[in-house]
Amino acid sequence: MKETVLTGDRPTGRLHLGHYVGSLRKRKELQDTGLYDMYIMSADMQGLTDNAKNTEKIKQNVFEVVKDNLSIGIDPEKTTIFVQSGVPELTELTTYYLNLVTLSRLKRNPTIKEEIKQRGFEESIPVGFLTYPVSQAADVTAFDATLVPVGDDQIPIMEQVVEIVDTFNKLYGETLVRPKYIVPESKSSSRLPGIDGKLKMSKSAGNCIYLSDDTETVRKKVMSMYTDPNHIRIEDKGDTKNNPVFIYLDAFCTDRKKYEEMKEHYERGGLGDKVVKEYLFEVLENTLKPIREKRKYYDEHMEIVEQIVKDGTEKARKKAKEVLKRVRKSVGVEYFK
Ligand code: TRP
Repeated sequence: MKETVLTGDRPTGRLHLGHYVGSLRKRKELQDTGLYDMYIMSADMQGLTDNAKNTEKIKQNVFEVVKDNLSIGIDPEKTTIFVQSGVPELTELTTYYLNLVTLSRLKRNPTIKEEIKQRGFEESIPVGFLTYPVSQAADVTAFDATLVPVGDDQIPIMEQVVEIVDTFNKLYGETLVRPKYIVPESKSSSRLPGIDGKLKMSKSAGNCIYLSDDTETVRKKVMSMYTDPNHIRIEDKGDTKNNPVFIYLDAFCTDRKKYEEMKEHYERGGLGDKVVKEYLFEVLENTLKPIREKRKYYDEHMEIVEQIVKDGTEKARKKAKEVLKRVRKSVGVEYFK
């Protein structure tokens, strides 16, 4: 039997380079091995957990993230692309799993804890948001996923997903498939900083390069990037470790020899920021050009995108129904023959 890969994106905005190196690139690679059954989900219900008053934003982005996936080379012939709310079986699974999780465990989840702190939620955190690790367990188990590629901010969520699976199986007997999750191998890829040098590329910080940005926008953003603030004159020694320009190069540059040479030269002194940025722009454009072209095609053929998601959702739902049946049987909510 083929292994199953499942992953998802919250449709809260267009996807950016951080998503690309953190997760998108890996899924295309997995898809192209031909070794997996693969599902990619536009996680609109999860997006709503902290956007209840902002439903328009989610609605607008459900197809945007689908197009982001298609444009990086996800092939609907090989991969099932679906929308979360089109599979209501997920919510029923969530309900059974909610009984296996305590409030204190949810509050201790580092990803959730960080969000509570950052957004000043305290006790006013929406319950749906607090419990999204539980619904994520439903997303993963509903397709018998064995492999879940995610960005490293999702590690605590996936740890809790595995915990829920173990609790369920222990309590009700072997029913759910225990998933493994994978995160990017290199540090540069697991957390791409913003173009402003802040720790993380994020929409709210306004420091992203989007997959859908045009050439001029990418150039402007790259040229304005934060570098080593102590690298004032060209002949000064430069830092490459906390320098987003070099972190991006590490994540994107396939000519490793040239990358190592530039890095060494910059550290030694004598290499100007402008030259490095120009090279980075070139490297990024190599990645982004084909993505942009595919995206243009799908932008002009929305009816194809809609059909892909419609067919994918139907297929995904069929699978989730089977799993739900198994789960109902194990829990014992099966009254009629
Ligand atoms: N929580 C993920 C994120 O914020 C998105 C997501 C939803 C997901 N359901 C999933 C990822 C299931 C992997 C598996 O990026």
